[in-house]
Amino acid sequence: MKIGVLKETAAGEGRVSATPETIKKFIALGAAVAVEKGAGAGASIDDDAFAAAGATVGARADVIADADILLGVQGPTPASLKGAKAGAWLCAGLNPFGERGRVDDYAKAGVEALAMEFMPRITRAQSMDILSSQSNLAGYKAVLDAAAEYGRAFPMMMTAAGTISAARLFVMGVGVAGLQAIATGRRLGAQVSATDVRSATKEQIESLGAKAIFVEDVKGIEGEGSGGYATEMSDEYKAAQAALVSSHIAKQDIVITTALIPGRPAPRLISDAQIATMRPGSVIVDLAVEAGGNVEGAVAGEVVERHGVKIVGHRNVPGRLAADASALFARNLYNFLSAFWDKDQGRPVLDEEIGNAVRITQGGKVVNERLLG
Ligand code: NAI
Repeated sequence: MKIGVLKETAAGEGRVSATPETIKKFIALGAAVAVEKGAGAGASIDDDAFAAAGATVGARADVIADADILLGVQGPTPASLKGAKAGAWLCAGLNPFGERGRVDDYAKAGVEALAMEFMPRITRAQSMDILSSQSNLAGYKAVLDAAAEYGRAFPMMMTAAGTISAARLFVMGVGVAGLQAIATGRRLGAQVSATDVRSATKEQIESLGAKAIFVEDVKGIEGEGSGGYATEMSDEYKAAQAALVSSHIAKQDIVITTALIPGRPAPRLISDAQIATMRPGSVIVDLAVEAGGNVEGAVAGEVVERHGVKIVGHRNVPGRLAADASALFARNLYNFLSAFWDKDQGRPVLDEEIGNAVRITQGGKVVNERLLG
């Protein structure tokens, strides 16, 4: 059983899908590990550290040849998998909805692609969930990115020269990233408020010491669909939410938006007219920018200014903390593969619940029902 660790090829991607720690653990399970030269450079892991953990370090073709399992952070281009063994597993964040064409090409290439973002939201899979581990870091980094763009301080400061008031920070979308944004904003001394469509988040917001801003007067909304994800809201709800947000947002200095709906474009939460009501110098960070954006005018990969307000649209925010993001991503992959390790066969054997959820290609075909429907 050989595991190959690919060097990421996407522009600006500094993460790596294995660390010396997880490589040692794979070897302890009986696997051999080959790492592509330079794979850890963006995450401050040099080739010697991989070699010291017991991996062989070499060219991509050598890593791919004979590998039973290939690991990546993002999906490699199908062409770059030339020479892969028929039926080899490819475990990575494959962005199956965004890169649908690639899924067909993985099938044609004969690899068994496992999309790690399709991990079901069940208790036993929590430690395997790349969306959680990476969103948590994104929520933290979004607040630091906002602080870096903001020309004022976050905490209240009483100085001999006078008092500086605390920044008001509003988090829209309180999933994994939003919760960490609230906690980080509080640690930096901001006055934090937050909103979500899932009513279950109200208590979570308050338990972190922030103020919950919720639409209370629209009947029949719960906002929670299957697996803890949000659903698309009614027009009546959207109108009530827009009115509530309009009055609140005008008083905010920092807004962090994180709202996502799986398989659909991100919901639009902030309009240009609402941005115009904010104080000049305010900062908005749109963490959903790559999924279409929560904020009108946000541009993926750029910091733009509208009405004196900065709108931050960094791509791949977890990748901006590449060392920690890699450590957690690598553990997610190890937790996944080791949980299913069959000692007799010396390889992982997936069960139906998780296997059918994450497997997107097999035997030359696209097999996942979320992609076939
Ligand atoms: P997500 O990344 O899909 O969405 C982010 C947040 O945006 C969610 O809280 C969602 O409700 C909210 N949102 C969507 N539309 C909105 C709108 N129009 N206005 C305001 N907010 C909106 O969500 P994430 O972070 O993946 O987590 C969702 C839930 O799943 C959480 O309760 C989390 O604890 C749970 N979860 C459970 C896991 C497990 O049991 N294995 C793993 C990961 C998350």
